[in-house]
Amino acid sequence: MQREIKITLENKVSRVFCGGSLSSIVDFAHPSKSVIVTDTNIYRYYGDKFSSYPVIILGTGEEIKNLSTVEYILKKMIELHCTRKTTLIGIGGGIVSDIAGFSASIFMRGIPFGFVSTSLLSQVDASVGGKNGVNIDMTKNMAGVFAQPEFVICDHSMLATLPKEEYVNGLAELVKSALLEGGDFYSFITSCKEKIKSMDMETISEAIYKSILFKAKIVELDERETDLRRILNLGHTLGHAIEKVKGIKHGLAVSLGISFSISLSLHLAGMNATCAKEIIALLKFFNLPVDLKSAISKEDIPLIMEAVQADKKGHSSSVSFILLNEPGRPEIKGIDFVDFEKLLKNELKGGHL
Ligand SMILES: NC(=O)c1ccc[n+]([C@@H]2O[C@H](COP(=O)([O-])OP(=O)(O)OC[C@H]3O[C@@H](n4cnc5c(N)ncnc54)[C@H](O)[C@@H]3O)[C@@H](O)[C@H]2O)c1
Repeated sequence: MQREIKITLENKVSRVFCGGSLSSIVDFAHPSKSVIVTDTNIYRYYGDKFSSYPVIILGTGEEIKNLSTVEYILKKMIELHCTRKTTLIGIGGGIVSDIAGFSASIFMRGIPFGFVSTSLLSQVDASVGGKNGVNIDMTKNMAGVFAQPEFVICDHSMLATLPKEEYVNGLAELVKSALLEGGDFYSFITSCKEKIKSMDMETISEAIYKSILFKAKIVELDERETDLRRILNLGHTLGHAIEKVKGIKHGLAVSLGISFSISLSLHLAGMNATCAKEIIALLKFFNLPVDLKSAISKEDIPLIMEAVQADKKGHSSSVSFILLNEPGRPEIKGIDFVDFEKLLKNELKGGHL
């Protein structure tokens, strides 16, 4: 079943089709007026389904999310005689959508773009909300724009070819959204966790829908992350640093970041121990990593701190850290870098949980 969610912004409506189909791209962008950007995996599985379009094929992995890839796309678009009326369609996971959205936003000062999001992580989070960008020297998303896609098609049937570990990776962002929204969404995830883990299509489709609805609401209230949208960074401040320093996948790093945040929330946000244990158990149930001690060592701390400070969300001497009182009750707390380092070291010694 396809369900449409409209994200209504000051001068634009971005349409998200949860449960939509790859084959419907032709309704949004005709092959004669559009170009597809995708990666080698998606092209291998689904290339025959968009063979009438000109295609720019990228490699895979966080390493390609950089300005060289953007330049490569822009050069290809010039070769293909693209104009301001061309629509760029990114078909892939979060890496493709981040790069394609950014490339479209700067080509000839901005052309329309849309996504077919193919990974769980991009369907629950990355493809929705209009943050597009690339890394600089592997520091996450240092060059980017806020620009909304015309359309996002979340084709759940494509999840069938998604590798299992990539599915698990996406579950981290799903848990993050449910923790922030709380209420029915969090109850749904906890009560349907077996079905979600086994990728029961009806259940995962509902979970993705709830996650998009939640993100749409936040983005409508604060598109440019001046205030409320910062809560979406739950698990990301430390997560991005671990991703950079240890080279692990985004979702896994976010899961470690969420665990750290939960641990701190016990002392700094009044979370009760039962609630904290339940959240950690949920992450573990989904085979997501929660043990910071086995992911990073004392020796990694200087590099982790450097990465935390380079993160664009950091202020001059403190970091905006997202804590939770309980699911549905996030708090944004400024933590001094020196204190942050102490808390991290303490966590590695044994933590609070
Ligand atoms: N812009 C945002 O708001 C936002 C939010 C969260 C994360 N992100 C970014 O998203 C990126 C991670 O996204 P991701 O986890 O989707 O990674 P990804 O794009 O690398 O996809 C993961 C892997 O799965 C493959 N794949 C994707 N869909 C497939 C399918 N249907 N069948 C077979 N293989 C498939 C890809 O080729 C890739 O190898 C990170 O760079 C992260 O920073 C952005």
